[in-house]
Amino acid sequence: MNAQEIEAKVKHLLSQMTLEEKVGQMTQVDFTVIGIPKEQQTEDQIDPVKLNEAVLNHHVGSILNTPFTPDNKAQSIDVWRKMTGTVQAAAAKTRLKIPVIYGIDAIHGATYTQNSVLFPQAINMAATFNPDLSFKEGEITAREVRASGLQWNFSTVMDIGRQPLWPRLWETFGEDVHLATVMGTSYIKGHQGDDFSAAAKAPTCLKHYVGYSYPLNGKDRTPAWIGERTLREYFLPTFAAGIKAGSPTIMVNSAEVDGIPGHANYHYLTTILRGELGFKGFTVSDWEDIKRLYTRDKLAASEKEAVKIAVMAGIDMSMVPFDFSFYDLLLELVKSGDVPLSRIDEAVSRILTVKYQAGLFEPKPLLAVEGNFATADALATNRLAARESIVLAKNEQHILPLKKDARILVTGPTANLLSAMNGGWTITWQGAAEELYPKDKLTVLQAIQKKAAGQVTYIEGDRQKVLEEAENHDVILLSLGEQPYTETVGNIESLALDQVQIELAQTAIATGKPVVLLTLGGRPRIITSIAEQVSGVVLGFLPGMEGGEAIADILYGDYNPNGKLPISYPRNTNGFTSYDYKPIESFESNVYHPLYPFAHGLSYSSFATSALKLEKDRIHSGENIIVSVNVKNTGAITGKEVVLVYINDVAASVTRPNKQLKAFKKVELTPGQTESLRFTLTPYDLSFIGVDLKRVVEPGDFKVMVGKETVGFTVLK
Ligand code: GLC
Repeated sequence: MNAQEIEAKVKHLLSQMTLEEKVGQMTQVDFTVIGIPKEQQTEDQIDPVKLNEAVLNHHVGSILNTPFTPDNKAQSIDVWRKMTGTVQAAAAKTRLKIPVIYGIDAIHGATYTQNSVLFPQAINMAATFNPDLSFKEGEITAREVRASGLQWNFSTVMDIGRQPLWPRLWETFGEDVHLATVMGTSYIKGHQGDDFSAAAKAPTCLKHYVGYSYPLNGKDRTPAWIGERTLREYFLPTFAAGIKAGSPTIMVNSAEVDGIPGHANYHYLTTILRGELGFKGFTVSDWEDIKRLYTRDKLAASEKEAVKIAVMAGIDMSMVPFDFSFYDLLLELVKSGDVPLSRIDEAVSRILTVKYQAGLFEPKPLLAVEGNFATADALATNRLAARESIVLAKNEQHILPLKKDARILVTGPTANLLSAMNGGWTITWQGAAEELYPKDKLTVLQAIQKKAAGQVTYIEGDRQKVLEEAENHDVILLSLGEQPYTETVGNIESLALDQVQIELAQTAIATGKPVVLLTLGGRPRIITSIAEQVSGVVLGFLPGMEGGEAIADILYGDYNPNGKLPISYPRNTNGFTSYDYKPIESFESNVYHPLYPFAHGLSYSSFATSALKLEKDRIHSGENIIVSVNVKNTGAITGKEVVLVYINDVAASVTRPNKQLKAFKKVELTPGQTESLRFTLTPYDLSFIGVDLKRVVEPGDFKVMVGKETVGFTVLK
């Protein structure tokens, strides 16, 4: 169905709808509203009376989540197919048969479908610097979401991660706008294809619009102090790119920016999102965030006023989520004339348009499970993504790779946990239910036990035993980091590791045996004193269900590591400076002093770039600049390398970062092989947000930096 046909159908359907049916389309409720009580959990977890109350009597247009919030947990694919079928059957009994759109958080695969392919989390996908893998993750996730009978994925996060304390840093593609843009849009294209009504495709959702990821104090859902120029330079571009990539829905920032809650910000939600970015889809609130304008932010004097503020600011659908209050209050507001019917029609038209675009009005048979779910190729893609997402940060005396017959002592709290490699949004909301994880996936310890030919001893944390056992081993693998979390549950006061882990590290080091530190978890916890004393450091972050085998592959040299840090790894707890620091930060002393810089990552091979050249050394405003450079594998084994192209705008009317990533390409090279690469930098790449808040390219000198080389060019007036 083309855009014109959809527009006509939406207009016709809207003309038939009652006010109640329209307001119902703007109402999204959690599964709990239609579910049987948790303690009565049976095969079919839907209560038909409650389902009819929601869909037939309140005309609810969307349902989200897996059963039994907040203990929501993964269901079998058969139960999902049954439950979503029951929901659609109820929708088919409504007067106008408008389908319900069922939304789910499938943020690193189909979170809540048992045995789904669960990828490395976004921070790890970013570390691959491999957009093809992000595209494939989108493809596979969409397939498994649709095979489950689900229809709308609250993914991908387009927030950028520049506040390492934030408990959702790992849900972002890291600190750089260009990297996050490329990885995020690749995911969207894989997930949606050219037509997301196709049986194996599904609509995505850009979140959380906008400025949610940069709370001043690092705690989730606390104020972000972001000026509009910074917002436009660092936080809006990924959403603009996601809209251009075709994502039809946007979920709104749960917190506040500059004192305005995301759900009350007309300037962001309408003036910018609609007027400037041209977004045509619909916005959905985040969890209970309309109510919270009253209950939390004290912005609204009542829940009713909160509904009015949010709808008039530009919220099209409310994730209420546990009752019909939004529906009831909005009906009253329209009947009293406080909210014009035109605003309701606008929101409902957007929602119906996406439902038509998603093919929900022409339901196809559900995608077959066989051949579309947890397939061998999907698992292989996941294994590759996990391998490419691991960062080898230190490798002194070539302690790595280990010999297969090395006697290895494994210790530390994250070595034998699948949950420590997956993080939040895994089988349960917080991802911490280790007992629910699939039994056929290997932890780091189990993967080492499977691969190693030598003795493998595991001592989780008993320091005395580590001291005693060390002498019978050649190397110690010290696996530290974090247990899973997401959202406010993951709030912390400091990036410092807990004392127990520090003491275990000190004990391992005191044995005098060579130590390899492995970290797992969503944030860069402070490891400086440990990292400086050990021989090897492997940064695993959240490599997903194949992470154990991927890490063992790298430890034993069966895979040559090539991950690069998508964030700057802080040296100290308050070391929040990002790589694109400003001149003022390196004037008298360079404040950018991370333990490991952005894009750091070692290989078992070595690479060198050379012959950096620009096609021209001066261009007119509006022209592209062509960059060419060679990259060579100067090592002894085949490996992958990411070539990164940075620019610096030497002088401008708004202070410019010392460097900004504007292009990158990952190549695989055999020993001695050289590849010549070409990059095209566009005027957009040279632009910034000017004094007048408009994007501009100012004439003047620029530098292009690749590897150790820098060349200059001038943009003429
Ligand atoms: C949560 C999260 C959001 C998620 C939504 C639905 O509060 O902020 O990322 O998509 O609720 O689960």
